[in-house]
Amino acid sequence: MENTSSRLVVGLLAVLLLSSFSVFAQSEWKVEDAKSKMSNPIQADDASLKEGKALFKTNCITCHGDPGKNNGLPLVPKPSDMANAAFLSANSDGAVFTKMTDGRITMPSFKAVLSEKERWKIVNYIRSFDENKKVASTVTAVKKEGQTLGVPYQLSLNYNPEESSLVAFVRGTLTDGNLAPASDVEVGFFVKRYFGDLPIGDRGGVTDENGMIKAAIPTDLPGGEEGKALAFAKLNDVDTYGDVSAKTEVSVKAVEIINLMDERSLWTVSVMAPWWLIFTYFGILIGVWGTLGYVVTLLFKLKKAGV
Ligand code: HEC
Repeated sequence: MENTSSRLVVGLLAVLLLSSFSVFAQSEWKVEDAKSKMSNPIQADDASLKEGKALFKTNCITCHGDPGKNNGLPLVPKPSDMANAAFLSANSDGAVFTKMTDGRITMPSFKAVLSEKERWKIVNYIRSFDENKKVASTVTAVKKEGQTLGVPYQLSLNYNPEESSLVAFVRGTLTDGNLAPASDVEVGFFVKRYFGDLPIGDRGGVTDENGMIKAAIPTDLPGGEEGKALAFAKLNDVDTYGDVSAKTEVSVKAVEIINLMDERSLWTVSVMAPWWLIFTYFGILIGVWGTLGYVVTLLFKLKKAGV
């Protein structure tokens, strides 16, 4: 008896625990507007980035994994990869700082562990994985040095699932061998289809002064049962820039594939015949046997009558 009731208690607790986890797992982690708008008081210079990186290594890497490698611990909710483009665009510096300060469930609060300055340095380090921000600092550096760009050119393609858009980022090689954003480069965007490539985005669009160009992905493109498609971008002027392209998987509209063998039909071998056929078949069967039976009873009657 005792055993049963203690099992019941354990069971109930497990259910409660699980349901509370799933409630948290589903709710998005929002940060108040005012806190989200806080700006980082610490300059993102080499020294602060270095310190931020070291602090991240000792305090965060165990759960969040190496930025960009998506190798965090499989907790629920999952600790985001800090270099994830969707995470970086959804979270301002203030939001990252606040989440780190407050914590939530399995994500510990670092308010008492790290000073404010240390927390902001970690924010700088995390932000250094944001392509959009990184570009801004490289551009000023290039302008200062006044060098020229040339081959080889590089293209990276980022997919933003919330906006359903692609951002291509083009860089060329400076005289000193470093990479810098390349503006006015014509980029073509495409989605792979069974028969050839479907161009998307503006025709003849060129990169802005940050080396970036954006293209919207039409969300009504059919993409098979899983709603996935392969998108790619390439630099249009092969003679000047070389054959440079990059690809990424994107989400489009999922379509249900109708299989003619799945429903009841005359030609299917895997599923049953249609109802009308079954009824007709048995109808005829009953009719024929019924008539035969009737004839036999008539014959018996004739015999009895002694005809
Ligand atoms: C014990 C594991 C653990 C450690 C250590 C940890 N985190 Fe987290 N972190 C999590 C988990 C789990 C979540 C998801 C929490 C949620 O959504 O409720 C999270 C969420 C976050 C988020 C919000 C992510 C999003 O997508 O909104 C940020 C930002 C963050 N952590 C930063 C940090 C930083 C910076 C450090 C180091 C100073 C750190 N975390 C250390 C487990 C951890």
